Amino acid sequence: MKTLISTKPLGSVETPLLALIVAQGGGSTTAIDPGVERAVASGDYKGKKDETLLVYASGKAQRILLVGIGKANEITRSAIRRAAAIAAKRARGLGSKTLSLAVAKEARGSLGAAELAQVLIEGTAQGGWQFTELKKQPEDPKPEIESVELVIDAADKDEAEAGRRIGDAIAAGYLYTRNLQMQPGNVCTPSYLAEEARKLAAAHGFKATILDKAQIKKEGMGALLAVAQGSAEEPRFIVLEYGGGSGAPVALIGKGVTFDSGGISIKPAANMEDMKFDKSGATAVLGAFEVLGRLKPKINVVGLIPATENLPSGTAIKPGDVVKSHLGKTIEIINTDAEGRLILCDALSYARRFKPVAAIDAATLTGAVVIALGHHAIGMLGNDEPLLAEVRDAGERAGERCWPLPLWDDYRELLKSDVADVKNSGGRAAGTIAGAWFLREFVDTFPWVHLDIAGTAYLEAEGAGHAKGPTAVCVRLFTEFLLKRAGA
Ligand code: BES
Ligand code: MN
Ligand code: ZN
Repeated sequence: MKTLISTKPLGSVETPLLALIVAQGGGSTTAIDPGVERAVASGDYKGKKDETLLVYASGKAQRILLVGIGKANEITRSAIRRAAAIAAKRARGLGSKTLSLAVAKEARGSLGAAELAQVLIEGTAQGGWQFTELKKQPEDPKPEIESVELVIDAADKDEAEAGRRIGDAIAAGYLYTRNLQMQPGNVCTPSYLAEEARKLAAAHGFKATILDKAQIKKEGMGALLAVAQGSAEEPRFIVLEYGGGSGAPVALIGKGVTFDSGGISIKPAANMEDMKFDKSGATAVLGAFEVLGRLKPKINVVGLIPATENLPSGTAIKPGDVVKSHLGKTIEIINTDAEGRLILCDALSYARRFKPVAAIDAATLTGAVVIALGHHAIGMLGNDEPLLAEVRDAGERAGERCWPLPLWDDYRELLKSDVADVKNSGGRAAGTIAGAWFLREFVDTFPWVHLDIAGTAYLEAEGAGHAKGPTAVCVRLFTEFLLKRAGA
């Protein structure tokens, strides 16, 4: 998707489709076309949130699409991103290869030109996405949106160009992640993820270290190995290093379970196919590195991805088994379906060698977070209040909201084992907190935030500006966090 910035007056934009984002009751820009003007003047079209109107226009733009954003005093980055996504989704549906996008004065809120351009591009990447690469005969195929033109005031040009650069990079990382998430388990295996990391490293000049099964064993990652032992596919431990600054790095850690059947504690069959999305933390880390490679901010970042399948077999781990983790703590496996925490605990322990200034993990860890927060927020827990606040702010800017859950000492009891230092499941109560507490047992020496993305990594139904399926959640959040830290 190519983007460009145009400072032409709205009425002289020649395009098959001009999407105009408008606020409720704000009509300053609707005079560009008589049809549009009549629709607004008649009161038929009000500009309510998500309300659209397609007009076959009589000027230079063949079609004008009004996209409502709601009340002018409630406009946020998320609202603009969403409106742009709705526009792009419609453009894709119409089969238009190009899209011109403009925001009416009243619909801009207090956004500066740079962030406006950035979130408009993020939104078009979101709304224009379709996945057909595995269909031999896609029904009703629509071409990709090849170019997006942002029509802005001439005075905003330089700022908007700066925002476009960021938006383009985020869009690329975001689309990369969404496609990778979509790959089925028989395609995207642990070694496939490792190959992707290698390709990113080659393209952008990162350092990549990939541990195979023998090296994982030598390293002492007994918990990761335990999860992997039921599968014929070998595990991988992926380390990516981006050096753009000085000092200790930020560590991004992603759960890379390329398929989670539950193992011996097997999951019910209904919707089990969605467990190909159990690698979404890992793919978000890879997508964030794609963005880093394009933007080259002044910061050091290390990405850690434990990658494995979780399958039942004669060699699989069993409830009651005790395994030794990388840190040395022993773990009693109560439920083989609580595998994410097992592979992440070894990654968190491995992270100590980098002495990270901050570590953030993203993991589709618990069904319980879906019960608590549904599909609208990431469950957020950690050991450091300032870092929690920083991550939460990054999530706000990214339109990937995080909501805190407590990690009080009281909950630690859930994980007491009769035979080992810790057990991997505390039963149904406080499932998300118990999962985070388990991870905390393996983090002591650095500020850390855990993001439970089980409810936000993929959507089971289509939304106004979003297709059903993967969301690339955390690519934008990670980027916002890192850019702010880098002082960009
Ligand atoms: N990958 C699942 C969590 C999940 C659930 C992701 C729904 C996406 C949608 C995770 O490995 C899991 O199975 N967690 C268990 C933990 C339990 C056994 C303690 C769960 O949530 O049931
Ligand atoms: Mn599981
Ligand atoms: Zn899982």
